[in-house]
Amino acid sequence: MFSKRIFQKYGKWLGVLTPVIMLIGIWIYSSGSGEARGRRGEVLYAEHCASCHGNSGEGLRKLIPPVRASDYVKENPEKLACIIKYGTRGPMTVNGQRYSGAMEGISRLEADEIRDIINYMRITWNGEKEAYSLKDVRSQLDACL
Ligand code: HEC
Repeated sequence: MFSKRIFQKYGKWLGVLTPVIMLIGIWIYSSGSGEARGRRGEVLYAEHCASCHGNSGEGLRKLIPPVRASDYVKENPEKLACIIKYGTRGPMTVNGQRYSGAMEGISRLEADEIRDIINYMRITWNGEKEAYSLKDVRSQLDACL
């Protein structure tokens, strides 16, 4: 039979193809959850940060610095987790403007939530491509002064 011959000829490929198809499935699944994390970052930002830094990260006059197109965010990637968790105190210069206020830390945010907020800010608003992993954020938090 034609189909049996086909099977005999190509049957062994099934052993190869099955894991490949499974891997593609896992890849599609995990890239989907990357998107879900991006949305979670957006929601968390809206909840915890937008009241000060603005809905689109634009900041507020000379009181609150922007987190969108912010040279500070771009140049201090290793400080972001600590700022979110433990706060920061001026003076600091962001995009040439001096700010001398203070930001309270939001200590109830967990490392995975901080990761999603940082990735949302960096990727959506600051042209970065690399996402932080949970491990990156945990080791930053361990090193906060
Ligand atoms: C109550 C107001 C307030 C809230 C809420 C707040 N911030 Fe801030 N944030 C500030 C102020 C004020 C500064 C600047 C402090 C200074 O003058 O030194 C700042 C500084 C920063 C900076 C460094 C400077 C810059 O703009 O690049 C980052 C990054 C930042 N905040 C991110 C966040 C994120 C993310 C959240 C939410 C998880 C958040 N902030 C919530 C007020 C706030």
